[in-house]
Amino acid sequence: MCEIKIEHLTRNYGGGKGVFNLSFDVKHGEVFGFLGPNGAGKTTTIRHLMGFIKAQEGSCTINDLDCWKDSEKIQLKLGYIPGEISYFDDMSGTEFLKFTANYRKIHHNLQKDLLERFEFDPKIKIKKMSKGMKQKLGIVAAFMHNPDIFIFDEPTSGLDPLMQNRFIDLVIEEKKNGKTILMSSHIFEEVEKTCDRIGIIRQGKMAAIDSAAALKERHVRHYNVKLENETLAESFAKDFNGISNGLNVTVSARQSLEEIFMNYYGDDRK
Ligand SMILES: Nc1ncnc2c1ncn2[C@@H]1O[C@H](COP(=O)(O)OP(=O)(O)O)[C@@H](O)[C@H]1O
Ligand SMILES: [Mg+2]
Repeated sequence: MCEIKIEHLTRNYGGGKGVFNLSFDVKHGEVFGFLGPNGAGKTTTIRHLMGFIKAQEGSCTINDLDCWKDSEKIQLKLGYIPGEISYFDDMSGTEFLKFTANYRKIHHNLQKDLLERFEFDPKIKIKKMSKGMKQKLGIVAAFMHNPDIFIFDEPTSGLDPLMQNRFIDLVIEEKKNGKTILMSSHIFEEVEKTCDRIGIIRQGKMAAIDSAAALKERHVRHYNVKLENETLAESFAKDFNGISNGLNVTVSARQSLEEIFMNYYGDDRK
C-alpha cells in the first residue's frame, strides 16, 4: 500500500527550474529519503504534497486524498517540518504550540516529552529564536499529535550534532512504530541511518531510486590480491579467507553514498 504517491508531477518555473515529470511513492511504514543538493526541487515537491501549490501537471495523493483538493484534511493529520519556519513571528513558542494543538483539536499531547528530549524552552518569541531553536519548535509541533505520516523538509538544518543525533534517534523510534516518513535531505548520513529507500533528485528529475542497502552495495568493491609467496598468504589467511597465495578482500567504502551522490551530481559543478 502506498501512503504517499507522486505521479508525473511537473511544476516549471522556467530556465530549467522546478520539477519535471517526477514520480515516486512512499509505502506504508516506509522511511523514504529524498536526497538532493540545493535547488534540486525538494521543497517544491514537498509544497505540492502539503497542498500549498497546485500541480501544473500530474498529481499527488496521500492516503488516496488529493493533496490539492483535500489539503486541509491532510494538513491536520500530517506531521510536517517545513524547510524554513518563518511565520507567526510575534508569537512565543509556547503560544505557537498551543495554537497548533487547538487547530488540530488534539487532547493527548506529547509536547512535554519532546521539549525535554530536545532540551528546548519555548517561552521566548519566535522572532528572537535562533535557526536551531525554530527548528526544534518545528519538530515539537510536527510530532506532538503523534501522526502516522510525516513529511520533513531538511529537518536537521540548524541543529547541532548532538540534537541532529537525537532527531535521528526519534525517526528510528517512529520507524519502529510503523510510521510512514518522507524526509528530504542533502546529508548522506542521516538518510543512510534512517531510510529504507532513497530517491536522488537532480535538476527537478529523479536520477535514481533504490534501497539504501542496494545503493551501498553498489559501492562494495571486491579485490583479488596476490601475495609473493604461500607463507605470507598463510599468515594473512588467519585473518582473511585466503586461498593459495591469493586473497579475496572486500572493501566497503565509508563514504559510499557520497560517492554515489557525486556520480549523479558531478557535472553540476562544471
Ligand atoms: N516560486 C518560485 N518561482 C520561481 N522559481 C522558484 C520558485 N520556487 C522555487 N524556485 C526555484 O526552483 C528550484 C528548486 O527549488 P527548491 O524546490 O526550493 O529546491 P530544494 O528544496 O531542493 O533546494 C530552485 O532553482 C528555485 O530557485
Ligand atoms: Mg529546500
